[in-house]
Amino acid sequence: MSKKIIILNGSPRINGNTQGLIDAFTKGAQQKGHEVICFNLEQLKIHGCLGCFGGGKDRKSPCVQKDDMLKIYPKYIKADVVVLASPMYYWGFSGQLKCAFDRLFAVAECEANYENPKKECLLLMASEGDGDENSKPILDYYEALLKHLNWKNLGDIIAGGVLKIGDIKNHKALEKAFELGISL
Ligand SMILES: Cc1cc2nc3c(=O)[nH]c(=O)nc-3n(C[C@H](O)[C@H](O)[C@H](O)COP(=O)(O)O)c2cc1C
Repeated sequence: MSKKIIILNGSPRINGNTQGLIDAFTKGAQQKGHEVICFNLEQLKIHGCLGCFGGGKDRKSPCVQKDDMLKIYPKYIKADVVVLASPMYYWGFSGQLKCAFDRLFAVAECEANYENPKKECLLLMASEGDGDENSKPILDYYEALLKHLNWKNLGDIIAGGVLKIGDIKNHKALEKAFELGISL
């Protein structure tokens, strides 16, 4: 069955290493007939969550802030799979991705007890550091996040050892990302 996949790309470098992972994943997913839409968050105007707990009154426009999240909400609501794509910044997501992700809370605000929509999720990340010690903080965070949301993890790929644009070329994680896309 064809799935709707939304990619939230938190990398400000549009031809960067995260984009390499996204391209490989997308190629695999599209080859299987899945519908993929990618939002390059850096190119959108997305403000940080105000923590006002005032959203959730209108499903079409769930947040009190009216910015480019309005482009993302309808695709997010319909998506089967959410792809969190980001460079590793200080062992976490980039600010661009964190801002957008926090704002998805407005969708949960539409439901009783802030129930989150059911999704499958996967993580694509590029990082300068390599190895388990470097990946552990973000993988622990990702696991805690999905546990809270009650989302299923379809996979987490961290391409380590990449710093400059182009470093991702021929990285073994590209093959993994393609395989992950085709496995859906
Ligand atoms: C502000 C900043 C913070 C970073 N923090 C980390 C880090 O904590 N761990 C790490 O391994 N790499 C870190 N990096 C390196 C990036 O993750 C790496 O350059 C990555 O390949 C960038 O992906 P991009 O090409 O998609 O922008 C950091 C880079 C920047 C600019």
